[in-house]
Amino acid sequence: MYVLCSLDALESNSSKGFQSPLGPIFAVRKKKKVYLYANECPHMGINLEWVPDQFLDTSKQLIQCAMHGAQFLIKTGECIHGPCKGQNLRPVPFEINSQNEICLQITTPALAEQTQ
Ligand code: FES
Repeated sequence: MYVLCSLDALESNSSKGFQSPLGPIFAVRKKKKVYLYANECPHMGINLEWVPDQFLDTSKQLIQCAMHGAQFLIKTGECIHGPCKGQNLRPVPFEINSQNEICLQITTPALAEQTQ
């Protein structure tokens, strides 16, 4: 398990970017739920944010790519508006441990070994 951050470090209706053993990823917290995705826009394969930790639109209801404005559902990562409509952000498996920390589920043996 790779501890990303404490759940408390992620406020409701906020997002946060991370460098991780799986590459750049970001987390979104919506009320009590957390969603993790690879920080890679399906349109051009680049990072979604221009400003650090800003992955949401102004209404904080959708994930938005800063490059060409693609918008994605927070719950599923599906693009519902923009040049990659119908495509999805890649979800990152994680769990919340007993210390209320967000932990990546690393399944590649080499990466899992590095993070223990
Ligand atoms: S690179 Fe994300 S919408 Fe074009």
